[in-house]
Amino acid sequence: MNRRDFLQSASAAALASTTIARAAVPAVKPVRLGVIGAGSRGQENLRQFLRVPGVSVEAICDIYPPRYEQVNRLVGKEVQHTADYNELLARNDIDAVMIASPVACHADHVIAAAKTGRAIYGEKALGFTVDDNQNILDAVTRNKVLFQIGHEYRYASWVREAIRRVHAGEIGTPTHVYAYWHRNGDWRRSVPSPDPDGKLERLINWRLYRESSGGLGTELGSHHIDMANWVFGEQPESVIGTNSICRYHDGRTVGDNVQSVFNYSQGRRLVFSSITDNAKVGCELWIYGTAGSVQITIEDATMYFEKNRSNKPTADQAEGKTVVERGVVTGASYSTAGEMPYRGPGEKVVVASSEDPTLAAARSFVEAVRGEHSIFADVQCGFRAAIACSVAHDAVFAENKMLIPAAAHNS
Ligand SMILES: NC(=O)c1ccc[n+]([C@@H]2O[C@H](COP(=O)([O-])OP(=O)(O)OC[C@H]3O[C@@H](n4cnc5c(N)ncnc54)[C@H](O)[C@@H]3O)[C@@H](O)[C@H]2O)c1
Repeated sequence: MNRRDFLQSASAAALASTTIARAAVPAVKPVRLGVIGAGSRGQENLRQFLRVPGVSVEAICDIYPPRYEQVNRLVGKEVQHTADYNELLARNDIDAVMIASPVACHADHVIAAAKTGRAIYGEKALGFTVDDNQNILDAVTRNKVLFQIGHEYRYASWVREAIRRVHAGEIGTPTHVYAYWHRNGDWRRSVPSPDPDGKLERLINWRLYRESSGGLGTELGSHHIDMANWVFGEQPESVIGTNSICRYHDGRTVGDNVQSVFNYSQGRRLVFSSITDNAKVGCELWIYGTAGSVQITIEDATMYFEKNRSNKPTADQAEGKTVVERGVVTGASYSTAGEMPYRGPGEKVVVASSEDPTLAAARSFVEAVRGEHSIFADVQCGFRAAIACSVAHDAVFAENKMLIPAAAHNS
């Protein structure tokens, strides 16, 4: 073979191998996103969605113009923008809509998107008021659109595995969930000045005002309510709660701390607390069962098993020995050798990988849009958490027990 023949056959071989390599990469169906509400969460979702092969962002809708340039920088190209969500929804180059506007806008935005028949990734909480939640559920169901709620912890590997083990009976019967979201900070965002009429304050700090926000109980608690619903297999029936302003007397009209108790059937309960002046406990959710506990954090989960008490003598059986010698399992009173806390290291829940829950949720949504599977965090799951948030938002001000309605069967 002379040099020319060699070069020709080498380049033919290279071309063939490139063709084979190209053919070996399975083509992914493109999923083109439109975004309504491109603020803090919208941009974080976008960042994760753009890590999923085949996803692009074609247009955004936001009423706050600085978002346009922020999104261009994030995406690395000039993204079409508008302040009118109907204009965004009228485009014909969008396959799915991601909605991350403030909660009080969700009903308008989700219902309009559902009417176009497109798949929707909607941020939590599903809706703001009881009516909003019923109307969103109705629109999504009636228009038969794919809908995934932004409860990304449903896609966190350690949460799924921990709750699978709870459902398998490893901690006995789960009776209580205690959830904490404790922070040390004012929960305020800085507002550009001048802001003579306070409109920017209301737009940027919508979370701090009762008419536009469910406060800490909705913004943070919705994730925990969703997890308790998952554990107990139902939504709560009623809620009682309280809130106050303890530290931040700065004009906000939602509490800077909130405590609520959600009642499920058979006397089971979720106890939720959120404070903004001490972060010691951070974000933790404990599932307490008759034979053990699970601690779930935003990074991992750990199981703790109760001491095996079956071979301990009861007070009646401890005949001939003093209580001090034998230790007894007492009823109401204290026994150091009996049932007091297990302080061992616990058993870490083992998972193959702990990728970012938002990335896992985004990937799963895109796969569902491509028809690969159904949606786990669906609209019903969003409804069952959000309806509890809506009622709790009133209950913590009224400090009365309030009933939480089930979904109206009008879909
Ligand atoms: N899943 C999670 O972990 C998570 C985390 C944070 C926030 N969230 C949720 O995401 C949503 C947004 O929260 P955020 O922190 O990004 O708020 P944000 O204020 O940072 O962003 C909201 C954006 O919506 C825009 N907007 C307001 N009204 C609008 C309208 N009528 N039309 C179009 N755009 C409008 C605002 O200008 C802003 O850019 C909330 O529902 C919140 O609960 C979810």
